[in-house]
Amino acid sequence: MESMTRDPAVAKRAAGYKAAEMVKDGMIIGLGTGSTVMYTMERLSRRIDEGLTIAGIPTSFQTAIRAREYNIPLTTLDDHPVIDLAIDGADEVDPQLRLIKGRGAAHTREKCVAAAAQRFIVVVDEQKMVTCLDGLVPVEIIAFAIRPVMDQLLNLNCTPILREGVKKDGPVITDNGNFIIDAKFKKITKPEKLEASIGLIPGVVESGLFCGFTDKTTVIVGGEKKCRVIP
Ligand code: 5RP
Repeated sequence: MESMTRDPAVAKRAAGYKAAEMVKDGMIIGLGTGSTVMYTMERLSRRIDEGLTIAGIPTSFQTAIRAREYNIPLTTLDDHPVIDLAIDGADEVDPQLRLIKGRGAAHTREKCVAAAAQRFIVVVDEQKMVTCLDGLVPVEIIAFAIRPVMDQLLNLNCTPILREGVKKDGPVITDNGNFIIDAKFKKITKPEKLEASIGLIPGVVESGLFCGFTDKTTVIVGGEKKCRVIP
């Protein structure tokens, strides 16, 4: 394994660019959210200038805005409910390729797009690779149900914290008009069970646990000299 790259931006760029090289002419691509996928879009933009024809489905306002700046044609899940490939970042990746996502509060649309994709490429730097998922699990909820959802999350043995805005007073409002609760768990030993349990709480829109896509997932771990591709 290549030693951890000192500058995460170098690793992110390497992973992002490698994913962009896997895109083939005519594909419909899910465009994830976050700094690593921005590099994928940067490289896709150059490939489009060179003649590549694709259309992307953005998973957030941030991605849609950047895609337009990069002249990446956009489409929707209404027009393409099944897509060739989704490319996205992650906050944690475990050895079974289960993920935690949602630092950018975009995980609900990201999960819809990943579910629609025949293949899911996850672009990360080495720091995201963990032996056991144990970070904050972002949970998008409807504001109406904040109190009972908080209580039920406490019953799952986590510390739930309402995510507050930066340069905005009060709660973060997602692109879907909802709140985010960051649920701090200790080690997550049964992520599939936890994903299902959180999903059953009335008022929860979606959690940032991504356990259902491992069969179609490829993880690209960026490095200074080369990328590691798993599996
Ligand atoms: C946004 C996400 C991002 O994909 C995830 O946070 C990774 O972001 P970055 O590539 O900036 O590290 O889930 O909701």
